[in-house]
Order: sequence, then C-alpha cells, then structure tokens
Amino acid sequence: MKKYKVGVIGATGMVGQRFVTLMQGHPWFTLTVVAASPRSAGKRYGDVMEGRWQLETPLPDCARDLIIMDAAADAEKIAGMVDFVFSAVDMKKEEIQALEERYAKLECPVVSNNSAHRWTSDVPMVVPEINPEHILVIESQRKRLGTKRGFIAVKSNCSLQSYVPALNPLRDFGLEKVLVCTYQAISGAGKTFETWPEMVDNVIPYIGGEEEKSEKEPMKLWGKVEGGVIVNAEKPAITAQCLRVPVSNGHMAAVFASFREKPSKEEILKRWAEFKGRPQELQLPTAPKQFLHYFTEDNMPQTKLHRNLENGMAVSVGRLREDTQYDYKFVCLSHNTLRGAAGGAVLLAELLCAENYI
Ligand SMILES: NC(=O)c1ccc[n+]([C@@H]2O[C@H](COP(=O)([O-])OP(=O)(O)OC[C@H]3O[C@@H](n4cnc5c(N)ncnc54)[C@H](OP(=O)(O)O)[C@@H]3O)[C@@H](O)[C@H]2O)c1
Repeated sequence: MKKYKVGVIGATGMVGQRFVTLMQGHPWFTLTVVAASPRSAGKRYGDVMEGRWQLETPLPDCARDLIIMDAAADAEKIAGMVDFVFSAVDMKKEEIQALEERYAKLECPVVSNNSAHRWTSDVPMVVPEINPEHILVIESQRKRLGTKRGFIAVKSNCSLQSYVPALNPLRDFGLEKVLVCTYQAISGAGKTFETWPEMVDNVIPYIGGEEEKSEKEPMKLWGKVEGGVIVNAEKPAITAQCLRVPVSNGHMAAVFASFREKPSKEEILKRWAEFKGRPQELQLPTAPKQFLHYFTEDNMPQTKLHRNLENGMAVSVGRLREDTQYDYKFVCLSHNTLRGAAGGAVLLAELLCAENYI
C-alpha cells in the first residue's frame, strides 16, 4: 500500500494536535510537515508544544522533531513536500479561504476542518457515511481552479455530527421537522478548564454562529449533486439552540423529530442498528465498525463514558421514546474533536484516497 505524505496546517492548535496524534501509526499516512503561524515557525514542534499540549495522550514521536514551517510563507515548499494537507487554522474567514485555495492551486489537495469554504457550492462538505457521492463535484471545482490534482474538501461543523447521523437513516419516513438542543464541550472552543476557568460550574447559553450552522449545514449534507455543484435539500425544517456546558470533550444533543409517515420505534431501532456507509464498505482504517450505537439504559449515553467509543468515531444514541409535541425524541453524543473535527477529516481523507481523488 502506498504511503501518503501529509502536512498539518495549524498543527499547534487544539484540532491540529488531534491531527498530529491521529497520524502516529496511521497505516496510510505519514506526517511529513507541521505548519502554523510565523509565531511558531522555525522552531522544533516538541519545544513549541511544551506547556501547550492539551491532549490526554502524550505528544507523538512522529511530530516531536519536525521543524514547524510557516503555513503562508512556505506554502509552495510545503505543497512540494506532501501529497495533501489537513487544514485547522484559526484566522479570518477570507484569509482561510485564500490560504486553502492557494494550496489547491499549488496542486496540493486540502482536507479542511475550517468553516471558510463550507458554503462554496463546488466544495464538497462530507460526512463519509452520509454523503460520500458529493466528492464528485471535485471535478468541476478543479476546472474552476484550473488544477489537475488540487482541490478543497471540507467536513461539517462539530455540533451536527451527533444528531445528523441518527436522523440520516430515517429520512425516507419523510422527515419533516426537527428541534435540537446541543450541549457542547469546551474543547470545541479550543479551550480546557485551565485556559477557560470561567466554565467550571457554569453554562453559557450562546455559541457564536453555532445555531445557524446547526440548522443550515444539514441541508448541504442532504443536498444533491447537479450540474457540478451541490444543490441543498429543502427539508426537514430544523430549529436549534446551542449551549456551552462544563465538559472537556463530547457534544450531546437532545433531538425531537416528526415524520410524514411516522415509523414504529422498532423500525427506527432497526434502521440505526443496520446503518452502514461507504467507509464501512471500504473498511477505511479510521471507520467505526458500528457507526450508531444504541443504549437501552435510561441514563445513557453519558459524555464521560461513551465519547471515546470506537476511538471517538462512533455516535452514541439513547432514550428513544414518543413525544407529546413531536413524533419522537432521543439523545445523541459524539466526540467533538475526534468524529466532530480531526477524526472526521481523517476519515474523509481516507475516502478521498480510496476513491482516487488524492
Ligand atoms: N476545537 C474544535 O473542536 C473545532 C471543531 C470544529 C472546527 N474547529 C475549527 O478549526 C479551526 C482551528 O480550531 P482550534 O480550536 O484548533 O484553534 P486554535 O487552538 O486556536 O489553533 C489555531 C491554529 O491556527 C494557527 N494560526 C493562527 N493564525 C495563523 C496564521 N496567520 N497563519 C498560519 N497559522 C495560523 C495557530 O498557529 P500558532 O500556534 O502559531 O498561533 C494554530 O496552529 C478553527 O477554524 C475552528 O473554528 C474547531
């Protein structure tokens, strides 16, 4: 099996650290470049990360001795050293758009964790189990950019990675209306309890831009490829409230849903148990064996107990029951920096390699 050389742009950040960790021992990918801002460039990764490493697992050996490059100033050099890059930078939207497009035009595919290009109509936004066919638009994107290899593909926002997978296999019952409240971990803001002590014993009922993303991004995921672009779905109507809660990792969602043809509880549980996607068919290295895990106990799933299920790549579901206002209600949980961020992007990169786009 060919090994792909990989760069991580934004490697010093919270999501970047996850990317770097996921490259350690990856069967297809070899971490070759770490890049960040001019503040970190020119220094050894292990030295810069001393005191900044935020993960529970130690800094991986594959990254320790790499010299951090400047994501913008060294773009040409980096593009020549790797087969593709993961992007997880925190910059202004227009700056991220320009930086990612620059790499694509340098014939270096970009698999991005950022939101900057999520609404570019020929950029696929993919949850590999849900809409793998959207990568077809890469051909028209390449025509627009004038590239042979280079393109940008993105993953969706972390908040919806918990509830959209559970709703997906129920869509053909005529999913009409969804109400969702998310309870989101502080790592989603790039923070820990040390760096955000105000979050201890606290809930903040506002996360900038999150409710709009939670309501709108599913429409692109459930859209169709037509004429080289993604045409968004029109249903279901989704309304969302997103709260920040004092949890280190793991976004929980309380979901209410109504259907045109109300399924039975048994039908829903069967759909969840049987739901498999392209990553499971292709047996991609990062794919969970069982994407949706249903818990029958009333007090499960729990953030602390289940966020790491199948290496943080599975989605946990529980408490399915009928509701008085909607047809059903249930809860969902996913790891926000694994399935919801770096892990989801690694799975997307594996799909793009397996389908010969990288
Ligand atoms: N945390 C999550 O769960 C999560 C989930 C989904 C999406 N996201 C998105 O992922 C991106 C990264 O998030 P994060 O939480 O990892 O942020 P973060 O911890 O603040 O890290 C930001 C990274 O961007 C780099 N950077 C900043 N300015 C730069 C510049 N001018 N040129 C090159 N690199 C620059 C930083 O490098 P230096 O260290 O050198 O400053 C650092 O590596 C954001 O767009 C965020 O919205 C985060």
